[in-house]
Amino acid sequence: MNVFSKVSDIRAQRWADPLVTWGLVPTMGYLHEGHLALVRRAREENDRVGVSIFVNPIQFNNPNDLTAYPRNMERDLALLKEAGADLVWTPTPDIVYPPGYQTYVEVEEVTRPLEGAARPGHFRGVATVVAKLFNVFQPQRAYFGQKDAQQVVVIKQMVADLNFNLEIVVQPTVREADGLAMSSRNARLSAAARESATCLYRALLAAKTAFEQGQRSAESLRAVTRGVIEATPLTRLDYVSVAHPDTLTELEVVENRALLSLAVFVDEVRLIDNMVIEV
Ligand code: PAJ
Repeated sequence: MNVFSKVSDIRAQRWADPLVTWGLVPTMGYLHEGHLALVRRAREENDRVGVSIFVNPIQFNNPNDLTAYPRNMERDLALLKEAGADLVWTPTPDIVYPPGYQTYVEVEEVTRPLEGAARPGHFRGVATVVAKLFNVFQPQRAYFGQKDAQQVVVIKQMVADLNFNLEIVVQPTVREADGLAMSSRNARLSAAARESATCLYRALLAAKTAFEQGQRSAESLRAVTRGVIEATPLTRLDYVSVAHPDTLTELEVVENRALLSLAVFVDEVRLIDNMVIEV
């Protein structure tokens, strides 16, 4: 496994054999089983696997969140080697955004609700860095987790709109035994908060159960979700949504499919989760 920070080194290895296929897994590091599931899937579906580890400053609208973001490069590289990565890009911020940098990717409609509304500028930062990663690696496939459902919608829209020549592969959310979606942010939870954090998954399951029992009113499903969060100590609900899975517009009635999603502050740590429900 080779690890480089310079773009020219990544390009050289990427094109050493132009006939092999490449899968790319973009990450911000502090890797867990969710990330590694993406790497293993990429390993199965491509000749070579590239991974990026870059805590992208421009996607953090809250400077404290950027500073508090956990990092452990040595451990990450050991895990990637074991999972079968071939090439890892670990640029510094000034390599990705050198002085004088001035180009950004703005995806419009699908970035407005949910995470986009709660975190202004977030998806501009994500789309910009992912576009750059696609250009640096030029992979045949890129792997993203369903954990960040809106991110997947935004990236797919960008790929279609800007004619990126690659396939976006979406991997199901990997969870802890008690249902908590794996996230680098979970490391910041105190023991008590960690216990409360299962409320996101429990809330989604409660809404899913209501749906399976015939509830089709989106507002009733939101109320079920909200109820579980409100009954859990140390939590503050940011949003709960029952939206169209492709356009992300809020629904009144769930006809065939919907994306249930929510964001909750658990003791100051902001967690998100989602589930697709369908008849
Ligand atoms: P990061 O949060 O490090 O996540 C990297 C990838 O791992 C994303 O595609 C994310 O959806 C996926 N992932 C995280 N937790 C997961 C889980 N529990 N199950 C399955 N997949 C999971 O998302 C980002 O970084 C950044 O926004 C990035 C795309 C790298 C751009 O900076």
